[in-house]
Amino acid sequence: MRKQIAAANWKMNLTIEQGIKLTDDLLSENIELQDHQEVIFGVPFPYLISIKEKIKSYKNYFVAAQNCYFQKAGAYTGEVSAEMLTSVATDYVIIGHSERREYFNENHQMLAEKINLCFENDLKPIFCCGEPLSIREANEQNGYVENQLKESLFHLTDKQLTGFVIAYEPIWAIGTGKTASSAQAQEMHAHIRNVMAAKYNNEVAESISILYGGSVKANNAKEIFGEKDVDGGLVGGASLNAAEFATIIKSLKTISR
Ligand code: PGA
Repeated sequence: MRKQIAAANWKMNLTIEQGIKLTDDLLSENIELQDHQEVIFGVPFPYLISIKEKIKSYKNYFVAAQNCYFQKAGAYTGEVSAEMLTSVATDYVIIGHSERREYFNENHQMLAEKINLCFENDLKPIFCCGEPLSIREANEQNGYVENQLKESLFHLTDKQLTGFVIAYEPIWAIGTGKTASSAQAQEMHAHIRNVMAAKYNNEVAESISILYGGSVKANNAKEIFGEKDVDGGLVGGASLNAAEFATIIKSLKTISR
């Protein structure tokens, strides 16, 4: 089975003490992950080292940065490079979250460059895509998301996209309590997989983990993750509560042994 992933996105929340307590509480649940399952903590830059230290002895637990800069290095006061993230043992980087696209004007080209820098520095990107409400209401979401994939991913090789991670996050469902129905999620995830199969091939498309994001909670994760093309979730609000996030992790697809 391709990787099934529960990724937390803490966004700009929690002090370091709160973040460590949350991580300790979650780890104390002793959730044993199967080989194909992963848990990722997407934490603020200053916490990466401490949270990595906490999780590093746990199998298939990883840390993600929530962003990196699209230039290699230099006079960019306040920015953090992919190389810096690797130097503090970061595993994944969330790229192109809709909040970054919207509030920080990140465009397709910048995201493509960030992804290249991730690959150059052995970081795994989690590429976010998803449409705003107006596009969904006009029923133009498929073309919109396809264009996001085309503009930021289509320069990559088969090899780079094998085992790649995409997060589909409809903007109207983020932090709103309004989730896409599991059928809506499945429909878009299948579309994304088809787009990747058409541009690359079936093997590449089938290897990509496509996470759903947007108001994933303990009480809806099982149903959403149960859909054929949904390979877990990118979770904001509900990842800030250890018990709730633990339930979400336990909702990932399992292989019966
Ligand atoms: P949410 O956020 O779970 O709070 O809706 C998801 C995200 O933005 O990654």
